[in-house]
Amino acid sequence: MSVRLALLDHVTTRLVSSEKGTVTPMTYIRSAAFAQTGYVVLDTYEQARDPKEWLELEYVDWKSSGDTRFAPLASAFGEMECNGFWNHTPPRTDKDGVWVQENVEKAPILKARAEEPGTNIGRCRVIELQPNDYASAIYNLHQDDNNRLNPDGTGWIVRSFFNLSDDKDSVLILREDRFDPTTEVRIPLPAGSQLIVDTQRFWHAVWHVGPEPRYCLITSYTSGPELDAYIEKYHGKPQDANPPLPQQVIDDAQTSMQRRLAERAATLASQGKRAAGAVAFDDDSESDSDD
Ligand SMILES: [Fe+2]
Repeated sequence: MSVRLALLDHVTTRLVSSEKGTVTPMTYIRSAAFAQTGYVVLDTYEQARDPKEWLELEYVDWKSSGDTRFAPLASAFGEMECNGFWNHTPPRTDKDGVWVQENVEKAPILKARAEEPGTNIGRCRVIELQPNDYASAIYNLHQDDNNRLNPDGTGWIVRSFFNLSDDKDSVLILREDRFDPTTEVRIPLPAGSQLIVDTQRFWHAVWHVGPEPRYCLITSYTSGPELDAYIEKYHGKPQDANPPLPQQVIDDAQTSMQRRLAERAATLASQGKRAAGAVAFDDDSESDSDD
């Protein structure tokens, strides 16, 4: 499938309530590369030629989907922490990240790769994900909240995933509809795989087979002509086909997800709380989820 690269003034489906109860469409600058499929796979990077900088970084505990830690390379104010920029004072959207000196000094190549598109960077970090299984990944499907507080008329924030460890049997799972497996895309994650995803559009999670932890550089980018040029340079396009997965595995995971969500909702209801899974954005972790 060819991808037309151009900027669109795209009227999104995101609506904002006014004081009078009416709704107003918000307009963001988006990449046409994402208009149809919402993600692109870039040319594979020659990961094996680089030192494993990610093993030298300082990681902090940060709950995301699955058993994870994060090594922040850029954070809200350059501190060794991972919180969403909207949780700082003053709150702001996922743009204008500040480099975390202690970590970028150990990872000049990762920093340079993150900077290559030349567009605005928000959060930038390496995720460490322990092995899980398909059913757990399906249960952990979530949408990111990258564009919270993103000013109308500016670039829509998307995220890149540069896989560092060699996880060719693991996949990033994307679903347009959380509960509909026929909308599922499964993208393999060998070393050097490079994806850019509208993670606020897709329900997503990684099924990491293991046995070693998975490491991936995740960066929030602002859509615009710089990102479009980068995607074009590295031939970004959707993948042709999913790696196969037996239907019974998918069916079992659907059943498991429904059961676990019901159990969780019942537990929260007994505590007088609302289940986060009932709303559009994942907000049950520490206010953020990566992959
Ligand atoms: Fe995420």
